[in-house]
Amino acid sequence: MRLDKFLADHNIGSRKQIKEYVKNGRCRINGEPAQKSDVHIDEENDEITFDGKLLSYSRFHYFLLNKPAGVVSATTDGSSRTVLDLLKDENIRGLSPCGRLDIDTEGLLLITDDGVLIHELLSPRKHVDKTYEAHLKSDISEEEIKLLEEGLDIGDKNDDGSPFLTLPAHARIGERDEEGNMVVYLSIHEGRFHQVKRMFEAVGNEVVFLKRVSMGPLKLTDDLSVGDYRPLTKEEITLLKAGK
Ligand code: URA
Repeated sequence: MRLDKFLADHNIGSRKQIKEYVKNGRCRINGEPAQKSDVHIDEENDEITFDGKLLSYSRFHYFLLNKPAGVVSATTDGSSRTVLDLLKDENIRGLSPCGRLDIDTEGLLLITDDGVLIHELLSPRKHVDKTYEAHLKSDISEEEIKLLEEGLDIGDKNDDGSPFLTLPAHARIGERDEEGNMVVYLSIHEGRFHQVKRMFEAVGNEVVFLKRVSMGPLKLTDDLSVGDYRPLTKEEITLLKAGK
């Protein structure tokens, strides 16, 4: 890989700035000042420092975004802002969201350029558990909670035309929100289109606000404001890859 690409991937600056920084001796390769910004490096084995700080090599990038409502889970869109537009300080080349949240859904969204991991996490056989916080228009009964948990007809069909029921899920009633709406934490093991909203519709209710709060080992914590993002920790990446 070229040194300037490696430095750009670490958000050191634009190619033009990097050229200048290298000329000023701020970057070292294995202890020696780099002579030119377009030299080729062995990014996995060479020790690259910038202003004395060691830059570690990472082939892929992983971010956890707290998606706000009003942005689309896509890499490009003709009219609306996309989730990638929120990764302001990152080199977004190659990044894409892992799955989709509806435009009006908030919460945890994994964004990465690790296509293999995205494929694994979205594959129907390996779907990881996802938990959603659903605020409801009407109160929900224990019986309806049981129906959500057992599996429901939400309108999808099997090849033979029979109802393609949802898989068993887990539902827990939380505290009411500020408007007095009932809140249910629903954990599902699938990722069908509008699944959570359709599950509540199937029991005669309506979701008025939806937020994803976890996906496999990833949890949305209060310190990440709506619209903000953070890189995943090494431990989170390891757990995700292990399918935990
Ligand atoms: N289920 C939905 O209905 N919407 C989402 O955004 C995610 C899951």
